Amino acid sequence: MIALTSRAAAGAYEDARAYLAQRLPRNVAKHVPTTRPDLLFLGIGLLLTCCVGPPASAPEKAQQTPGWTYDAENARDILETCATCHGRNGEGGKDGAYPRLAGFDERYIVRQLRAFQTRERVNIPMFPYATERELPPEDARDVARLLSQIELRTEMPSPKADMSALERLLAAQAVFRVPRVDGDVERGAEIYEAECSDCHGEEGWGEDDVPPLAGQHTNYLRRQIRYFRSGERINDDMDGVLDGLDENDLEDLFAYLASRDD
Ligand code: HEC
Ligand code: HEC
Repeated sequence: MIALTSRAAAGAYEDARAYLAQRLPRNVAKHVPTTRPDLLFLGIGLLLTCCVGPPASAPEKAQQTPGWTYDAENARDILETCATCHGRNGEGGKDGAYPRLAGFDERYIVRQLRAFQTRERVNIPMFPYATERELPPEDARDVARLLSQIELRTEMPSPKADMSALERLLAAQAVFRVPRVDGDVERGAEIYEAECSDCHGEEGWGEDDVPPLAGQHTNYLRRQIRYFRSGERINDDMDGVLDGLDENDLEDLFAYLASRDD
């Protein structure tokens, strides 16, 4: 279980920020935000905690960690902490400052958490949450599985649907759709098909443990592409795949990806 209170989290965040600001190269350190994350929403998140539960027939995808069995209640407790930034349903927020995680392959989520922990992937806001003390491997597995099982809706429930007020509220909160992006959708589709679909799956919805690009906040994708290009984020599979693409190509790609959940 995560033991962070919002105050402890804020303190840990400040500590991590100060620590990393000292050690990071200047060009990275200057991106370290000076405001702490908005933890006020934690309270609201807790109040509204929902029960987007795992479907009983969910496939067992992940490899087993010895001695680990899925603990759904623990997963929901942990998700309350993540929800401060990633949203109650893992839908992400703040126009892509926080990525969507809902429906992601659990192996990918676990791998990223590990990468944050070892600082192979540097992420200042996440750092205090991903440490071994706050998020031991079993907890990472639990929350990753819960996130992988959350299905976001792209439409508000119909006014005619037979639902209680609470069910309607919860359903409305799980609605997420990527806003349209200016660009040539057809050209984006061609580029996607030729350059990305082998790994990121048909129409961008991810494949095996390669993350989806469709259904993700565009600004988050823009930022990750910048990180891959600058070498701040490194992945063998992604090495070189962006080389031939200019800004126009990328905007067309984003326009295509943003249209997938229409
Ligand atoms: C204080 C805000 C904050 C909290 C709390 C937080 N995260 Fe994050 N998380 C971020 C940010 C910001 C990013 C994007 C970093 C980047 O741009 O590289 C991120 C990225 C991620 C990613 C990578 C997504 C991808 O597509 O590669 C995963 C996985 C993740 N977070 C999981 C979690 C989990 C699980 C929790 C709860 C234990 C959590 N986060 C709590 C801010 C937060
Ligand atoms: C050879 C396989 C491969 C190809 C081709 C490929 N990718 Fe990836 N991509 C990956 C893998 C694997 C990851 C996850 C990296 C990690 O684990 O950190 C990834 C991650 C990403 C991410 C970060 C996603 C996130 O949630 O953080 C973006 C953005 C991305 N790729 C964009 C693209 C685009 C755009 C193309 C086509 C121009 C492309 N990729 C082609 C394998 C590939």
